[in-house]
Amino acid sequence: MKAVILYDSKTAGGSTEAIIDAIGQQLAESGAYVEKAKCKAMADYSFVREFDIVILGAPVYYFLVSSQLLAALIQGNLKKNLKRKKIALFLTCGSPDTLASVIYLPQLKIHLIRNRILAEKIIPPGALSDTETIEEFVDDLLYEYEKTLKEGRASHTIEWSDDALGLLHSIPSFMQGKIKTVAEEYAAETGCREITVAVLMAAKDEMQG
Ligand SMILES: Cc1cc2nc3c(=O)[nH]c(=O)nc-3n(C[C@H](O)[C@H](O)[C@H](O)COP(=O)(O)O)c2cc1C
Repeated sequence: MKAVILYDSKTAGGSTEAIIDAIGQQLAESGAYVEKAKCKAMADYSFVREFDIVILGAPVYYFLVSSQLLAALIQGNLKKNLKRKKIALFLTCGSPDTLASVIYLPQLKIHLIRNRILAEKIIPPGALSDTETIEEFVDDLLYEYEKTLKEGRASHTIEWSDDALGLLHSIPSFMQGKIKTVAEEYAAETGCREITVAVLMAAKDEMQG
């Protein structure tokens, strides 16, 4: 797995860079190939296409996510090059988690509504003494990434019977995607090559616990 960390910060050797290094180290220890690049608003971001995961990270200054990352998304070609990319996000700031998730994270997420977000976290500047926060972020990211790989494999090899497809299409459309994923994951895990009505019902029962 190849990951690139795109970040911005006005502080050389500050908390953002320390957090990035810790994330990079943990990802590398899990076997990933990791690069980092500091954002410049109008840089050419076509290089991100060769990575499986793009991690965006920045501090907050005066209520705004650091300017070069935001500008790369809004004015530059970063958003265009993130099409269909799997993303992880982190912000570092002095505000509490709950506030930062509501006020600051959406400044990035509004530009990523079509992306799969694997993990997102507010990481306080002092988080390096508390390695759990970084570990949790990297674990979430790797877990969700594995899940997307499983989903990809499942949807390529598993067939749907006509009856099961009919049943899937009879449920409200906003739920179909979730049920389809659950059924395909269930079939992949239990070694079924075809999703029949019985498999679909068993997956539903398992999902409902
Ligand atoms: C000039 C300045 C403005 C800041 N403004 C905010 C803010 O509006 N909201 C917030 O939660 N944290 C704010 N912070 C805290 C920073 O987001 C936090 O310390 C961050 O970890 C700094 O990252 P850096 O070391 O890479 O610069 C501010 C810090 C500085 C130095």
